[in-house]
Amino acid sequence: MRKVFVIFVLGCLFSGCARKTEAEIFVDDLMGRMTLREKLGQMSQFVPQTGVVTGPEGEPVDLDALIKAGEVGSILNVKTPQEIESLQRLAVDSSRLGIPILFGHDVIHGCNVLFPINLASSCSWDMDAIRKSAELAAAEAAAMGIAWTFSPMCDVSADPRWGRVSEGAGEDPYLGAKIAAAMVEGYQGKDLSDSSSILACVKHFAAYGAPEAGRDYNTVDMSERMFRDRYLPPYKAAIEAGAATVMTSFNDFNAIPASANEWLLKKLLKEELGFEGFVVSDYKAVTELIAHGVAADAKEAAFKALRAHLDMEMVTGTYLNHGEDLVSEGLISEASIDEMCRRILLVKYELGLFDDPFRYGGAQRYAMAINSQAAFEHSRKLARESMVLLKNENDVLPLDSGEKIALIGPFASTPRAMIGSWTAFRDYDRTVTIEEGFNARFPSRVSVVQGCDVFTPVDGGISDAVRAARNADVAVLVLGFHGHLSGEAASVTSVELPQCQKDLLAAVKKVGKPVVVLLTTGRPMALESVIDDIDALLLVWHPGTEGGNAVADLVSGDHSPSGHLTMCFPRCDGQIPIRYNHKNTGRPATGIGLKSFDNISKSFQSCYLLTPNSPLYSFGYGLSYTTFEYNNFEMPKALDKD
Ligand code: GLC
Repeated sequence: MRKVFVIFVLGCLFSGCARKTEAEIFVDDLMGRMTLREKLGQMSQFVPQTGVVTGPEGEPVDLDALIKAGEVGSILNVKTPQEIESLQRLAVDSSRLGIPILFGHDVIHGCNVLFPINLASSCSWDMDAIRKSAELAAAEAAAMGIAWTFSPMCDVSADPRWGRVSEGAGEDPYLGAKIAAAMVEGYQGKDLSDSSSILACVKHFAAYGAPEAGRDYNTVDMSERMFRDRYLPPYKAAIEAGAATVMTSFNDFNAIPASANEWLLKKLLKEELGFEGFVVSDYKAVTELIAHGVAADAKEAAFKALRAHLDMEMVTGTYLNHGEDLVSEGLISEASIDEMCRRILLVKYELGLFDDPFRYGGAQRYAMAINSQAAFEHSRKLARESMVLLKNENDVLPLDSGEKIALIGPFASTPRAMIGSWTAFRDYDRTVTIEEGFNARFPSRVSVVQGCDVFTPVDGGISDAVRAARNADVAVLVLGFHGHLSGEAASVTSVELPQCQKDLLAAVKKVGKPVVVLLTTGRPMALESVIDDIDALLLVWHPGTEGGNAVADLVSGDHSPSGHLTMCFPRCDGQIPIRYNHKNTGRPATGIGLKSFDNISKSFQSCYLLTPNSPLYSFGYGLSYTTFEYNNFEMPKALDKD
């Protein structure tokens, strides 16, 4: 193929079409030899029956037959590098034109070595460390044969009821934009054709982080001004950083589902933002247009998605099933199919897949690249920087050397609490639990008791915990939410601690020893009802493969906490959604609304009767083991106008 192409390029150069790039010449030549069905195939992404499940069950397809027919542009969620290699071999050797397949996966916060969840990493405020984590994740993913990650998630959110806050960068659009750009740079590197660079994917376009009532997939409706001020910046920054792909969101956006929203995809994304890569739908989002009520059947769903120029369809196959009819009936032009297919092929060309379809993956490369020492070390470093010290009465932390420690709670010994949602190819055997981290750092000083389960008491759990606390100098409780309880389809109506955990905390507090809480969670939690039982509170999030060691690094004082919140922690559920950059209103609050409890009189201010507007811990908050004093501020003189 290459030789034919070189002659073709030389011909073009002499024939005056030199203004086209080499990639465009190659792709236009290839498309000139493709059938309409093959073009629709490039616009179709499928998941193998044996793949990782990241969405509702779909219609089974004969993937091998589709591949041989040249009707599969991309495959997601393949579990092993061997399977990726054999599927690619089938495409390259058995299909008419041998167009390589693009393999995608959710490498969200690491691949084999997991880094802290993204909301945790955002609390490091360390762009270099975040960029590095994306780079290391890309190196492992590329070694597996994955050339495309569905990351960064750029959805701004101020609503911790929504489980997917765990995947984002918090509530601030400016910080979210910086982090989105850093992750794109980390994944894609300087040159997409470098075999350790993989495609980034800006998701979920758009405003998926603002679902009504914090319920996943729910309606999003806001003014264009609010959207442009608060939600657009991270998507825009990621695109300006060169992100090669964008993924549409499940939600409707001002009454039109994102996957059929012409304003979002054509006007804003491709025209105004000048996005030149390709757009993929989210999982089954095209046929979900039927449930949204904007399509009567799969054919109309395909029509509306194609009309909006949604370039690639994830999983549902309606483009292949109905695209030719839509063109022959004049509803969709073949020119627009060409425009969408071309975007996909140009990205494959930039990746170097036509040069070498096996540049990604391969058993030897895989064995060499994964689980590198650098990845483990960076995971531990970023985890430390992501943790936030929220309270430290009487400097209970760091623990003094020699103290006996009662380590209590449902998340002390489980690797699942370290990894969080979107676990990719995590290796639980190599994941360091908090118990393991403590035993390594505080040998023969730690006694471990479960105390309770996540939502339910354990027989004798509280009495065991009380006994352990009595026999120790300090009680360290590991409480919060489980990794499964954040991420997609994980909305909750309360972010308070479950009652059994509150009961465990209260019982241990009564023993009278200092109480440290390590909070493992993928979302801000409402802690006002328990905060008085806690002497020191360290937010550890879901800190990744090296989580247990990173916690021990901070609790021992080997390192000082340095994280700062990127989402407010509410006092109680009733404050949600809550953000630091709220409007003043015409009646800004000066306190709670009830001025006195005996004779009921109220302040006419924008506040609640019984609860302050302020969160328990605000955006930007975080303590360390030292104190800081700021003084002698100086404002730079206005720059002289030259
Ligand atoms: C899921 C998620 C999306 C993910 C995709 C592929 O439903 O919404 O974030 O990238 O499907 O797994």
